[in-house]
Amino acid sequence: MKMAKRVEDLPPYPFVEIIQKINEKRAKGEEVITFAVGDPDIPTPPHILERLHQAAQDPANHRYPEAASLPELRQAIAAWYQKRFDVSLDADKEVLPLIGAKEGIFHIAMCFIDPGDIALVPEPGYPVYPVSVMMMGGTPYYMPLIRQNNFLPDLDIIPADIADKAKFMWLNYPNNPTGAVADLDFFNKVVKFAKQHNLSVCHDAPYTEVAYDGYRPVSFLQADGAREVAIEFHSCSKSYNMTGWRIGMAVGNAELVGALNTVKSNIDSGIPQAIQYAAIEALSGPQDCIQHHNDIYQRRRDLVVGMLNKLGIEAEPPKASLYVWAKVPAGYTSVEFSNELLERVGVVVTPGTGFGKGGEGYVRLSLTLPDAALVKALSRLAEWRDPRNKFKAKR
Ligand SMILES: Cc1ncc(COP(=O)(O)O)c(C=O)c1O
Repeated sequence: MKMAKRVEDLPPYPFVEIIQKINEKRAKGEEVITFAVGDPDIPTPPHILERLHQAAQDPANHRYPEAASLPELRQAIAAWYQKRFDVSLDADKEVLPLIGAKEGIFHIAMCFIDPGDIALVPEPGYPVYPVSVMMMGGTPYYMPLIRQNNFLPDLDIIPADIADKAKFMWLNYPNNPTGAVADLDFFNKVVKFAKQHNLSVCHDAPYTEVAYDGYRPVSFLQADGAREVAIEFHSCSKSYNMTGWRIGMAVGNAELVGALNTVKSNIDSGIPQAIQYAAIEALSGPQDCIQHHNDIYQRRRDLVVGMLNKLGIEAEPPKASLYVWAKVPAGYTSVEFSNELLERVGVVVTPGTGFGKGGEGYVRLSLTLPDAALVKALSRLAEWRDPRNKFKAKR
C-alpha cells in the first residue's frame, strides 16, 4: 500500500508499550489500577443529561446540525466568557463551537502551516500540538517547560530568527501534564512577544474550571491586546464531565476564528444538535457542580501528593488541572519507573516522555480515579519499596 509520508512519519503513539503491558496483565487476570487517563470518572451532572435527553426526542435534532452551530450555543458561550472572565465576545464572529477542543486544536494547524513553516510548541505538552504541525508539513520548535521556570516557556531564549519565522505559538494553562498555572503578567508578555514577532497565539484552556484552594485561573483573552493575536480553545469536557459528548469551543480573534470555521466547514458537518443543547444547559445552568467536582479532586490531590511525598517522591500539589506531575526517583527513567510501579504493585502512571522528551524525569498521575480505586492504589503504593534501594521511603 502506498501511504502518505505524513502518515509514515507519524511518531508512534507514546503509550503503546505501557498499554500493551496493561493488557497482558489484565489478560492474566491481574488487577491493574490506572492513574493514566485524564478522563473524569464523575458522571455528567443530571440537569445537563436531562436537557440532552429532551433534545434527543425532538426530530428537529435528528437531522444535520445547523451550519456554524446553533446561534443560542454561540450566545451561551459568549455569555459564559463574559460572566466567568469579564471578556466580551461577538457571538457571530468570535465564537466557534467544536467537536471537542482536540478537533479544533488539530485543525487550527491547517490555518497556519504550509510545508516548511515553524510553530512554537511547549514541551512537555499535549501531543496534538506538535503532531498537527508535522502533519501539515511544518516543524515544531520546542519551548522547554522546566520547573525552575515554573513550567512557563522562557521567551527570552527563543532565537529571534525562529520567532520571526514562526507562524504561531501554542500555550496551555492550567497545564497538562505539569499542572502549572500562568498569570496575566505572563500572558501580557506573550502578547507583546507575539506582536513583536508577528505571530499568533493559540491558548488551550480546557482546565480553567478545575482549580483548587480558591484559585481562579485566568483566560488568555484577559491579557492586554490578546484579541489582536490570539484564539483560545475551551471545552465542556473537564468543566462539566462531558468528555463522552465531544463538545468544545474556539474563541477570540475574528480572523482566526473565521479561518478555523472555513477549514472545519469543509471537513465536518457540525456537532449533533442535542449535544449543543446540553452544552447550552451546562454553560447557562447552575454552576455549583464545578465546585462540587473540584472538592472531590482536591481531596484526591492531597491524598496522592501526600502518599508520593511519603515514599520520598517529589511532587507538589497543583493549583489547577487534573494532574500531579511527580519527579521519578534517582536512577530511573520515566518509562523505567512507570514499568517498575506496574510490575511491582500493578499501578499505572504515565511516563513524562509520553508528552515529549522534555517530560523525562517525571511521571503524571491523573486525579480521575474513582474513590474506591484510589484507596486501593494508594495502599498498593504504600507497599512499594525501591528494589534497587536508590532511596529509602520516609516512614
Ligand atoms: C491540554 C488538553 N487539551 C485538549 C484536550 C482535549 O479536550 P476535549 O475533550 O475537549 O477534546 C485535553 C484532553 O485531555 C487536554 O489535556
